[in-house]
Amino acid sequence: MKANSMASSIRNQDAATGRSDRISSGETLSLSDREFDEIRAVIKNLTGINMGASKRQLIYRRLQTRLKATGTSTFRDYLELLERGDATEREAFSNAVTTNLTSFFREKHHFDFLAKTIIPDIVAKKGSSSKRLRIWSAGCSTGEEPYSIAITLKEAQKDLAHWDVKLLCTDLDSNVLGVGKTGIYAPDRVEKIPQAQLRRWFTKSREQDDGRVKMSRALQDLMTFKQLNLMDDWPMRGPFDVIFCRNVVIYFDKPTQRVLMDRYANILADDGYLILGHSESLFNVSDRFALLGNTIYRKSH
Ligand SMILES: C[S@@+](CC[C@H](N)C(=O)[O-])C[C@H]1O[C@@H](n2cnc3c(N)ncnc32)[C@H](O)[C@@H]1O
Repeated sequence: MKANSMASSIRNQDAATGRSDRISSGETLSLSDREFDEIRAVIKNLTGINMGASKRQLIYRRLQTRLKATGTSTFRDYLELLERGDATEREAFSNAVTTNLTSFFREKHHFDFLAKTIIPDIVAKKGSSSKRLRIWSAGCSTGEEPYSIAITLKEAQKDLAHWDVKLLCTDLDSNVLGVGKTGIYAPDRVEKIPQAQLRRWFTKSREQDDGRVKMSRALQDLMTFKQLNLMDDWPMRGPFDVIFCRNVVIYFDKPTQRVLMDRYANILADDGYLILGHSESLFNVSDRFALLGNTIYRKSH
């Protein structure tokens, strides 16, 4: 079929569904209501992410790239490819549908609380016994969150000297995890970081002379980056002293949040801390935590 007639036939299909989304080449690719619903179901099934009906354009734009990359010409064909269980494409699909917005010291009050309350509390409790500190950044995206945690820990070094400190950094999205592992960031990512901290914890990236910076080895030595889908079984046993899971569960529905928070409570130490993102809350989700402050919780049972 010639391009023109193909485009017009696709446009006719659109007339049937009442939907039409234009891609940049000028051709029109249709996403029917049914296909959209099926895609949302696959997203929920693979990632736990609950895509609302308002996310149609977002899904359309993000998956358009996957259609091009896989040489599929319709959303129906693409859905069939996913249904055939192609592991590589399922991973690329999951990567495409996640939202990875993050930054260094985002929601700074959490890092202040870590430095001023959590670390002193744990040092007081365990300082004469195990001297073991375990923190998990769940949904760490490109790594700015766990590097901010690591900087905070290192700056509390006088309290944590001779402690066994480990920071687990996990995300479902293999692309963002790769960035975290390398620890190399563009200059605009670090422009709000005070000069003293920049000099101390970042070095000029040797790989390229374009102003990019690399995180210091001393921070990376504390950290392990691993791909982990929070919906799957977790290979680690814990217990963790602190879990950061910020701006992740906002994408999950309440029943999924309830199961996840119960699992967090199970893997946290007694009195362990759970830190959520600014628009997230445990209200009607879990009664196993006490609220300590702005989206900061402590396990109660
Ligand atoms: C908006 S980012 C938040 C990053 C960081 N925690 C922060 O607050 O700056 C949300 C992250 O959650 C991850 N995510 C979404 N669903 C996930 C799942 N089922 N398992 C693990 N990570 C998931 C996404 O890949 C994304 O990187």
